[in-house]
Parts: sequence; C-alpha cells; structure tokens
Amino acid sequence: MERMLSGIKPTGRLHLGNYIGAIRNFVSYQDEYEMFIFIANEHAITVPIEAKELRQNTKDLIALYIACGLDPKKVTLFLQSDVVAHAQLGWVMTCLSYMGEMQRMTQYKDKTAKGETGVTAGLFTYPCLMAADILLYDPKYVPVGIDQKQHVELTRNLAERFNNRYSDTFTVPQPLVTKVGAKVYSLQNPTKKMSKSEENPKGTIDLLDDPAAARKKIMSAVTDSLGVIRYDQENQPGLANLLTIQSALTGEEIDSIVARYEGKGYGELKKEVGQTVFDFLTDLQAKYRHVIESGMIDEVLKEGAQKASYIANKKIAKVYRKIGFTVTK
Ligand code: TYM
Repeated sequence: MERMLSGIKPTGRLHLGNYIGAIRNFVSYQDEYEMFIFIANEHAITVPIEAKELRQNTKDLIALYIACGLDPKKVTLFLQSDVVAHAQLGWVMTCLSYMGEMQRMTQYKDKTAKGETGVTAGLFTYPCLMAADILLYDPKYVPVGIDQKQHVELTRNLAERFNNRYSDTFTVPQPLVTKVGAKVYSLQNPTKKMSKSEENPKGTIDLLDDPAAARKKIMSAVTDSLGVIRYDQENQPGLANLLTIQSALTGEEIDSIVARYEGKGYGELKKEVGQTVFDFLTDLQAKYRHVIESGMIDEVLKEGAQKASYIANKKIAKVYRKIGFTVTK
C-alpha cells in the first residue's frame, strides 16, 4: 500500500472548506492507502491562542475527523505534539531553508502586506515544520486544498536538498489536490477563501454551526445580478461557489446541476444548497456527539501516537546520524 499523510491545524473551528478541500478526500482514500492524519497543534501556536481554546479545538477536530468518516482502525490518527520527532526534524528543516524561500510563502506575505503587527517567528518558519511533518513518514502523496500546495512544493525542494547534501533519506512527496472544491470561497466575499480567521461569520460555515443558521448563511450568500445559472468562476464567483458546495456534498456533477437549473432563479438553487448543507450538518453533528459520548478519543490518540512515533523515531535517528549529531554507536 502506498502511503499518504495530511494534517489540519486546530486554530479555530473547522469549516466547510476544510471538509470539502481536505477531510472528504482523506475519507475517500482510506481504503486504498496507508493513511496518517494528524492534528497540527504545533502549528496552532504560530498565532496567539488560549490554552482552553486550543484544547477544545483539538478535541473537536479529532471527534470531527472520526465523525466525517475516518476510521481509526484504518487510519493512524494522532496529535503532532505527541510525536517529538516533528519538532526535532522541524529544526533541521529550518536550518536547511533560506530566508528568501520563507519570504515567498503566501501566508506570511499576506500577513505582512496587510501590515499586521505581532507576526511571530514561528509563523515565518512554519513551512519548515510542515515539511518535517511530511518527510518523517515518507508519504508518496499529501492531499491538501490549493492553499497548501505551495508548502508541499517547498517540502519537495527541501527533501531533494537534503538527499543531495547527505544521501538518499526522504521520499519526495506529491501534493494531491481535489478537482472539485480545492478552494471553497467565503459566502460573503466569494473571491476570498473560506477561512478560520474570517471576520464576518456569515461568510463561513463551521461544521459545528447550528444547521438552521448555516442554511440562512447560504440563503444570504453574495451572488451577482446576471441572473443566469452557470459555472463561471471569474464572472460569477458566488454562484460557482454554491455549485461547488452542492456538487461536493452530493456527488452530482456541476454540469448536471447547471442543466437542472436552466431557466430557474438563484433563490431556488440557494434553497437546494441550503437544504443540502442543513442535512449534511445535522447528520455530521449527530455522529460527532456520538464520538464524544463514546469516550473513544483518548484510546485513538494513544494508539495513533505509538504507531506514528515508531516510524518518526526511526527516521529522525537516521537524520541525526547523517548530519553528524550521533557520536555513539
Ligand atoms: P489548515 O488547517 O489551514 O487547513 C487544513 C486543510 O483544509 C484545506 N482548506 C481548504 N480547502 C478548500 N477550501 C478552503 N477554503 C480551505 N481552507 C483550508 C487546506 O488546504 C488543508 O488541506 N499547514 C496546514 C496544516 C499542516 C499540514 C501539514 C497539512 C501542517 N502540517 C502536513 C499537510 C501536511 C494548514 O494550516 O492547513
């Protein structure tokens, strides 16, 4: 079985973009690949976050992974900070990277362009930690939304750099980006991605939102005044976003949805998408509550940490030998 790895950071509440761009795909791959899916909690502290909130987000994220359909018997689910080798290899990757590479990373560029103050050194170097997260496990594929592709590409460069400098050590991974929904947009500002840090709550649908409130957000989604239902990302981004959401959650092709709506209005489409989202969240949240009540999370994380540590510790030992840290036999 080929190996696949991905992670999500517990910075805020999980939203529909995370589900459609990432988790849904993890679930679809779990039977064919050996999967490692983790909670990137070390990445969550690149911006200030209260311990209480981080703890809650982490518990929610693991419960949502399982509620969304990841089966802990098939997938290794673990907490990044439980596997010490992430921080260890993260430092090695930081020393292998150049300042210029980090300065070109979109997230850092966006924050500094907005003139945000208090950008931490951790936020600047976090792509190095992300490279370590991946390379410890030698995955062939890394399924991510489009916004993370740049980081997987950096990871490829760092893997090749290390292999060239010290000898073959890491598998060079490939990003895997879904065709539909690699970027879900804000419902209020449909040229911007749906994001955990979005200020307007009407733009984002959280997976733990009240389903009726989520339906309202779809009904009030920003569209356009052209009045024709078709998929045109450039001129009708709001509509394209609704079609993407509907297609991703039901499996119906976008073309087929568009054909069904010939001659009909936006209101009808919004009603259908709103209902789809309502049903999806209602079902997901029932499963989420079941996972929480079952008390299974501790055991899942314990087992996951053991399996992940076994692989990661072997890899970091190899790296330490190659770079000259190990002096005993
Ligand atoms: P994060 O937590 O921001 O996002 C988690 C996953 O969700 C995808 N995603 C989206 N997809 C579609 N539309 C959107 N609006 C949207 N918003 C987010 C992201 O592309 C991602 O796949 N640095 C990573 C976490 C990470 C990681 C890793 C991922 C740390 N180490 C190693 C893969 C491998 C992050 O901040 O993702």
